[in-house]
Amino acid sequence: MKAVSQARYGTADVVTVEDIPEPVPAADEILVRVHAASLNGSDRENLVGRPFYARLGGLRRPRNPVPGSDVAGVVAAVGSAVTEFAPGEEVFGELAGYRGGLAEYVATPPRLLARKPPHLSFADAAAIPQAGCIALRATRGLRPGEQVLVNGAGGAGGAFVVGLAKHLGAVVTAVDRADKADHLLRVGADTTIAFEDEDWAGHRGRYDRVVDLVAHRSPHRVHAALRSEGTYLVVGGHTRVLLATLVAGPPIRWTTGKRVRVLVVPQSRADLETVTALVADGAVVPGADRLYALEEAPAAFARLAAGDHRGKIAITVA
Ligand SMILES: NC(=O)c1ccc[n+]([C@@H]2O[C@H](COP(=O)([O-])OP(=O)(O)OC[C@H]3O[C@@H](n4cnc5c(N)ncnc54)[C@H](OP(=O)(O)O)[C@@H]3O)[C@@H](O)[C@H]2O)c1
Repeated sequence: MKAVSQARYGTADVVTVEDIPEPVPAADEILVRVHAASLNGSDRENLVGRPFYARLGGLRRPRNPVPGSDVAGVVAAVGSAVTEFAPGEEVFGELAGYRGGLAEYVATPPRLLARKPPHLSFADAAAIPQAGCIALRATRGLRPGEQVLVNGAGGAGGAFVVGLAKHLGAVVTAVDRADKADHLLRVGADTTIAFEDEDWAGHRGRYDRVVDLVAHRSPHRVHAALRSEGTYLVVGGHTRVLLATLVAGPPIRWTTGKRVRVLVVPQSRADLETVTALVADGAVVPGADRLYALEEAPAAFARLAAGDHRGKIAITVA
């Protein structure tokens, strides 16, 4: 079968399209004929092997050379112990281990996959899993009128976070490169900040919630931008900031009443179904970037690695 391959960590040049053996599902797995996949910031991290957590899938080189975590396709076969899916059913979801999806077939445990709603195309369904589930957790509990800042809002996950926050009635400030401002306004932001020009962390006492997809500031600095009782959620970013946030969170809470923490988003079929229902209702529109064919995967990764994408890059496989 045809598959995208990444034999080592590096720039988009390490991405190739190869013929590799088709996987054989274990007794508790299903074999999915992949029709479409989408790229996330985690695929960019898994490409370069940075931050450090991107090497959990292989310290020196990726153990599974096939990248790609978000897929939509058709069940081609089921293992002997699988009872909940049957061949021919349309499914989508995020793969355990965040790899293996950019191939004509992937064998995976079925627990993370959901049935694809018939009205969603395979590419639209593949755009939802990781970004949608992050957004669902990152916006949980928001109240109408609250001030929310989304840092790194112009990439794969940002449109979902902005869209869901708006759906809940928040007033959203979106931060990214200046040339992504139009995209940020299109997906629903009320205000945009170009990070090259302005440092939002200097806005003292302004935000009820900050969702940070690219954290690189000290938690001791960012909490000043929160209102009293405000919350700062680190979703992704530098390893040292993640560690510093874990350590600093409790003392900041005791001394200021503000919550500063790392948001751990579980891979969850229930969350996927919840956010997909919101997409189906039009509550949130996944910001779609470009659609590539499988053979064009190196170009898709080059766009992702350069940070030129605005929303989700999709790749059609079948
Ligand atoms: N917490 C969890 O459980 C969990 C689960 C899954 C994934 N994640 C993480 O969540 C993150 C997801 O992000 P994503 O998929 O949206 O990533 P993405 O597609 O890479 O988007 C990040 C955006 O941030 C921009 N950016 C870069 N530097 C910035 C700065 N200094 N200030 C503001 N914006 C900046 C990028 O633009 P340029 O590149 O042009 O600079 C890009 O538009 C990843 O780190 C991933 O590992 C977390």
